[in-house]
Amino acid sequence: MGDASPQVAPASSGRVIFLGPPGAGKGTQAARLAAHMGVPKISTGDMLREAIARGTPLGLQAAPLMEKGGLVPDELLIGIIQERLREDDCARGYILDGFPRTLKQAEGFESMAGGDRTAELLVFSVEVPRPELLRRLSGRRWCPRCQATYHVETNPPKREGLCDRDGMRLIQREDDKETAVARRLAEYDERTAPLIDHYCRRARFHRVDGHRPVDAVFDELKGLLEAAR
Ligand code: AP5
Repeated sequence: MGDASPQVAPASSGRVIFLGPPGAGKGTQAARLAAHMGVPKISTGDMLREAIARGTPLGLQAAPLMEKGGLVPDELLIGIIQERLREDDCARGYILDGFPRTLKQAEGFESMAGGDRTAELLVFSVEVPRPELLRRLSGRRWCPRCQATYHVETNPPKREGLCDRDGMRLIQREDDKETAVARRLAEYDERTAPLIDHYCRRARFHRVDGHRPVDAVFDELKGLLEAAR
Protein backbone atom coordinates (compact mmCIF):
# COMPACT_ATOMS: atom_id res chain seq x y z
CA MET A 1 0.00 0.00 0.00
CA GLY A 2 3.02 2.30 0.44
CA ASP A 3 1.94 5.86 1.15
CA ALA A 4 -1.75 5.21 0.53
CA SER A 5 -4.43 7.58 1.85
CA PRO A 6 -4.81 7.63 5.61
CA GLN A 7 -7.57 5.42 7.08
CA VAL A 8 -8.89 8.08 9.42
CA ALA A 9 -9.94 11.64 8.74
CA PRO A 10 -6.88 13.88 8.77
CA ALA A 11 -6.59 16.37 11.61
CA SER A 12 -7.40 19.15 9.17
CA SER A 13 -11.05 18.11 9.02
CA GLY A 14 -11.31 16.87 12.61
CA ARG A 15 -11.26 20.18 14.47
CA VAL A 16 -14.16 22.51 13.88
CA ILE A 17 -15.12 25.85 15.41
CA PHE A 18 -18.60 27.34 15.22
CA LEU A 19 -18.83 31.12 15.35
CA GLY A 20 -22.06 33.08 15.23
CA PRO A 21 -24.31 35.33 17.29
CA PRO A 22 -26.67 34.02 19.98
CA GLY A 23 -29.50 32.07 18.37
CA ALA A 24 -27.74 31.51 15.03
CA GLY A 25 -28.12 27.74 15.40
CA LYS A 26 -24.53 26.89 16.38
CA GLY A 27 -25.60 24.38 19.04
CA THR A 28 -28.18 22.74 16.77
CA GLN A 29 -25.73 22.27 13.89
CA ALA A 30 -22.74 21.42 16.10
CA ALA A 31 -24.69 18.54 17.67
CA ARG A 32 -25.62 17.12 14.25
CA LEU A 33 -22.15 17.53 12.80
CA ALA A 34 -20.53 15.96 15.87
CA ALA A 35 -22.77 12.87 15.49
CA HIS A 36 -21.95 12.75 11.78
CA MET A 37 -18.19 12.98 12.39
CA GLY A 38 -18.12 10.79 15.50
CA VAL A 39 -16.35 13.44 17.58
CA PRO A 40 -17.51 15.23 20.75
CA LYS A 41 -19.35 18.53 20.67
CA ILE A 42 -17.84 20.80 23.29
CA SER A 43 -20.19 23.61 24.24
CA THR A 44 -18.88 26.06 26.80
CA GLY A 45 -22.43 27.33 27.39
CA ASP A 46 -23.58 23.77 28.27
CA MET A 47 -20.53 23.23 30.48
CA LEU A 48 -21.21 26.46 32.37
CA ARG A 49 -24.93 25.70 32.78
CA GLU A 50 -24.03 22.26 34.14
CA ALA A 51 -21.58 23.85 36.61
CA ILE A 52 -24.35 26.22 37.72
CA ALA A 53 -26.79 23.32 38.18
CA ARG A 54 -24.23 21.46 40.30
CA GLY A 55 -23.34 24.57 42.32
CA THR A 56 -19.58 24.25 41.70
CA PRO A 57 -17.24 27.22 42.34
CA LEU A 58 -17.13 27.83 38.56
CA GLY A 59 -20.95 27.78 38.44
CA LEU A 60 -21.24 30.23 41.33
CA GLN A 61 -18.90 32.65 39.60
CA ALA A 62 -20.53 32.26 36.16
CA ALA A 63 -24.22 32.42 37.15
CA PRO A 64 -24.65 36.16 37.80
CA LEU A 65 -22.64 37.05 34.68
CA MET A 66 -24.55 34.68 32.41
CA GLU A 67 -27.96 35.71 33.71
CA LYS A 68 -27.29 39.28 32.62
CA GLY A 69 -25.88 38.20 29.26
CA GLY A 70 -22.25 39.07 30.01
CA LEU A 71 -19.21 36.93 29.23
CA VAL A 72 -17.45 34.77 31.80
CA PRO A 73 -13.73 35.71 32.28
CA ASP A 74 -11.33 34.44 29.62
CA GLU A 75 -8.94 32.71 32.07
CA LEU A 76 -11.75 30.49 33.40
CA LEU A 77 -12.85 29.45 29.92
CA ILE A 78 -9.33 28.80 28.67
CA GLY A 79 -8.76 26.64 31.76
CA ILE A 80 -11.88 24.49 31.32
CA ILE A 81 -11.25 24.00 27.60
CA GLN A 82 -7.63 23.05 28.20
CA GLU A 83 -8.76 20.41 30.68
CA ARG A 84 -11.55 19.12 28.39
CA LEU A 85 -9.30 18.77 25.33
CA ARG A 86 -6.96 16.48 27.28
CA GLU A 87 -9.70 13.84 27.50
CA ASP A 88 -9.34 10.75 25.31
CA ASP A 89 -12.46 11.35 23.23
CA CYS A 90 -10.86 14.48 21.74
CA ALA A 91 -7.94 12.60 20.21
CA ARG A 92 -9.53 12.34 16.72
CA GLY A 93 -11.06 15.78 16.75
CA TYR A 94 -13.84 17.85 18.29
CA ILE A 95 -16.33 20.56 17.59
CA LEU A 96 -16.18 23.76 19.61
CA ASP A 97 -19.51 25.52 20.09
CA GLY A 98 -19.27 28.91 21.81
CA PHE A 99 -15.50 28.93 22.24
CA PRO A 100 -13.36 30.85 21.48
CA ARG A 101 -15.43 33.97 21.97
CA THR A 102 -12.75 36.66 22.35
CA LEU A 103 -9.35 37.22 20.74
CA LYS A 104 -7.72 36.33 24.05
CA GLN A 105 -9.54 32.96 24.09
CA ALA A 106 -8.54 32.35 20.46
CA GLU A 107 -4.89 32.95 21.30
CA GLY A 108 -5.16 30.76 24.41
CA PHE A 109 -6.74 27.97 22.37
CA GLU A 110 -4.22 28.20 19.55
CA SER A 111 -1.26 27.99 21.90
CA MET A 112 -2.70 24.94 23.69
CA ALA A 113 -3.66 23.22 20.41
CA GLY A 114 -0.36 23.98 18.63
CA GLY A 115 -0.35 27.47 17.07
CA ASP A 116 1.16 26.21 13.84
CA ARG A 117 -1.95 24.04 13.28
CA THR A 118 -4.38 26.97 13.11
CA ALA A 119 -4.41 26.79 9.30
CA GLU A 120 -5.95 23.28 9.58
CA LEU A 121 -8.94 24.45 11.61
CA LEU A 122 -12.32 24.44 9.92
CA VAL A 123 -14.24 27.51 11.07
CA PHE A 124 -17.92 28.10 10.27
CA SER A 125 -19.48 31.49 10.87
CA VAL A 126 -23.25 30.96 10.95
CA GLU A 127 -25.02 34.14 9.86
CA VAL A 128 -28.65 35.02 10.54
CA PRO A 129 -30.46 38.42 10.36
CA ARG A 130 -31.09 40.03 13.73
CA PRO A 131 -34.94 39.96 13.74
CA GLU A 132 -34.78 36.19 13.16
CA LEU A 133 -32.26 35.80 16.02
CA LEU A 134 -34.69 37.58 18.34
CA ARG A 135 -37.56 35.36 17.19
CA ARG A 136 -35.51 32.20 17.80
CA LEU A 137 -34.25 33.23 21.23
CA SER A 138 -37.62 34.38 22.56
CA GLY A 139 -39.23 31.09 21.47
CA ARG A 140 -36.48 28.77 22.62
CA ARG A 141 -37.26 26.30 25.39
CA TRP A 142 -34.64 24.14 27.05
CA CYS A 143 -34.44 20.95 29.10
CA PRO A 144 -32.51 21.61 32.33
CA ARG A 145 -31.65 17.91 32.65
CA CYS A 146 -30.36 16.82 29.20
CA GLN A 147 -29.86 20.30 27.64
CA ALA A 148 -32.03 19.46 24.58
CA THR A 149 -33.25 22.59 22.81
CA TYR A 150 -36.70 23.26 21.31
CA HIS A 151 -38.58 26.16 19.78
CA VAL A 152 -42.24 26.80 20.54
CA GLU A 153 -43.10 27.32 16.86
CA THR A 154 -40.44 25.73 14.66
CA ASN A 155 -39.31 22.79 16.78
CA PRO A 156 -41.92 22.06 19.47
CA PRO A 157 -41.68 18.99 21.71
CA LYS A 158 -44.17 16.16 21.08
CA ARG A 159 -45.96 16.85 24.38
CA GLU A 160 -46.34 20.56 25.12
CA GLY A 161 -43.80 21.86 27.63
CA LEU A 162 -42.11 18.47 28.19
CA CYS A 163 -38.76 17.17 26.93
CA ASP A 164 -39.09 14.38 24.32
CA ARG A 165 -36.06 12.58 25.74
CA ASP A 166 -36.66 12.52 29.48
CA GLY A 167 -40.07 14.11 30.12
CA MET A 168 -38.60 16.99 32.17
CA ARG A 169 -40.53 20.28 32.20
CA LEU A 170 -38.96 22.65 29.67
CA ILE A 171 -37.93 26.13 30.77
CA GLN A 172 -36.88 29.40 29.21
CA ARG A 173 -33.20 30.18 29.73
CA GLU A 174 -32.76 33.17 32.04
CA ASP A 175 -30.47 34.77 29.43
CA ASP A 176 -33.11 34.40 26.68
CA LYS A 177 -35.14 37.15 28.34
CA GLU A 178 -35.14 40.52 26.58
CA THR A 179 -32.56 42.55 28.52
CA ALA A 180 -30.03 39.72 28.63
CA VAL A 181 -30.46 39.07 24.89
CA ALA A 182 -29.65 42.71 24.10
CA ARG A 183 -26.47 42.46 26.16
CA ARG A 184 -25.46 39.13 24.56
CA LEU A 185 -25.84 40.61 21.07
CA ALA A 186 -23.77 43.65 22.07
CA GLU A 187 -21.05 41.37 23.54
CA TYR A 188 -21.06 39.39 20.32
CA ASP A 189 -20.62 42.52 18.16
CA GLU A 190 -17.88 43.93 20.30
CA ARG A 191 -15.87 40.92 21.42
CA THR A 192 -16.70 37.89 19.26
CA ALA A 193 -17.29 39.31 15.76
CA PRO A 194 -13.57 40.32 15.48
CA LEU A 195 -12.81 36.58 15.40
CA ILE A 196 -14.30 36.46 11.90
CA ASP A 197 -11.45 38.55 10.58
CA HIS A 198 -8.98 36.64 12.76
CA TYR A 199 -9.94 33.21 11.36
CA CYS A 200 -10.66 34.48 7.87
CA ARG A 201 -6.94 35.12 7.55
CA ARG A 202 -5.62 32.11 9.49
CA ALA A 203 -7.91 29.09 9.06
CA ARG A 204 -10.22 27.37 6.57
CA PHE A 205 -13.02 29.83 7.07
CA HIS A 206 -16.58 29.67 5.66
CA ARG A 207 -19.56 31.96 6.08
CA VAL A 208 -22.74 29.88 6.21
CA ASP A 209 -26.25 31.25 5.68
CA GLY A 210 -28.05 30.06 8.82
CA HIS A 211 -31.39 31.57 7.84
CA ARG A 212 -32.60 28.40 6.14
CA PRO A 213 -34.19 25.17 7.35
CA VAL A 214 -31.98 23.16 9.72
CA ASP A 215 -31.49 20.36 7.14
CA ALA A 216 -30.39 22.77 4.40
CA VAL A 217 -27.77 24.34 6.67
CA PHE A 218 -26.58 20.91 7.74
CA ASP A 219 -26.24 19.69 4.13
CA GLU A 220 -24.01 22.65 3.33
CA LEU A 221 -21.86 22.00 6.40
CA LYS A 222 -21.42 18.34 5.45
CA GLY A 223 -20.39 19.40 1.94
CA LEU A 224 -17.82 21.86 3.28
CA LEU A 225 -16.50 19.20 5.64
CA GLU A 226 -16.11 16.71 2.78
CA ALA A 227 -14.34 19.31 0.64
CA ALA A 228 -11.86 19.93 3.47
CA ARG A 229 -10.84 16.26 3.73
P1 AP5 B 1 -24.09 29.80 24.83
O1 AP5 B 1 -24.89 28.74 25.43
O2 AP5 B 1 -22.90 29.46 24.00
O3 AP5 B 1 -25.08 30.75 24.06
P2 AP5 B 1 -24.97 31.56 22.69
O4 AP5 B 1 -23.65 31.63 22.02
O5 AP5 B 1 -25.57 32.86 23.02
O6 AP5 B 1 -25.71 30.69 21.71
P3 AP5 B 1 -27.14 30.14 21.88
O7 AP5 B 1 -27.11 28.87 22.65
O8 AP5 B 1 -28.09 31.20 22.36
O9 AP5 B 1 -27.55 29.92 20.36
P4 AP5 B 1 -27.06 28.89 19.25
O10 AP5 B 1 -26.37 29.65 18.17
O11 AP5 B 1 -26.35 27.72 19.85
O12 AP5 B 1 -28.47 28.47 18.68
P5 AP5 B 1 -29.36 27.16 18.94
O13 AP5 B 1 -28.84 26.04 18.10
O14 AP5 B 1 -29.55 26.92 20.40
O15 AP5 B 1 -23.55 30.80 25.96
C1 AP5 B 1 -24.40 31.29 26.97
C2 AP5 B 1 -23.61 32.18 27.91
O16 AP5 B 1 -22.53 31.42 28.52
C3 AP5 B 1 -22.90 33.38 27.27
O17 AP5 B 1 -23.78 34.48 27.11
C4 AP5 B 1 -21.78 33.65 28.29
O18 AP5 B 1 -22.29 34.28 29.42
C5 AP5 B 1 -21.36 32.23 28.69
N1 AP5 B 1 -20.29 31.70 27.84
C6 AP5 B 1 -20.36 30.59 27.04
N2 AP5 B 1 -19.20 30.40 26.39
C7 AP5 B 1 -18.38 31.41 26.79
C8 AP5 B 1 -17.05 31.78 26.43
N3 AP5 B 1 -16.34 31.06 25.54
N4 AP5 B 1 -16.53 32.88 27.02
C9 AP5 B 1 -17.21 33.61 27.92
N5 AP5 B 1 -18.48 33.32 28.29
C10 AP5 B 1 -19.07 32.24 27.72
O19 AP5 B 1 -30.74 27.66 18.30
C11 AP5 B 1 -31.48 28.72 18.86
C12 AP5 B 1 -32.99 28.49 18.63
O20 AP5 B 1 -33.26 28.56 17.23
C13 AP5 B 1 -33.49 27.11 19.10
O21 AP5 B 1 -34.79 27.25 19.59
C14 AP5 B 1 -33.47 26.25 17.82
O22 AP5 B 1 -34.43 25.21 17.86
C15 AP5 B 1 -33.79 27.30 16.75
N6 AP5 B 1 -33.13 27.04 15.46
C16 AP5 B 1 -31.86 26.59 15.25
N7 AP5 B 1 -31.59 26.51 13.94
C17 AP5 B 1 -32.71 26.93 13.30
C18 AP5 B 1 -33.06 27.08 11.91
N8 AP5 B 1 -32.19 26.79 10.92
N9 AP5 B 1 -34.29 27.54 11.62
C19 AP5 B 1 -35.20 27.86 12.59
N10 AP5 B 1 -34.93 27.71 13.93
C20 AP5 B 1 -33.69 27.27 14.27
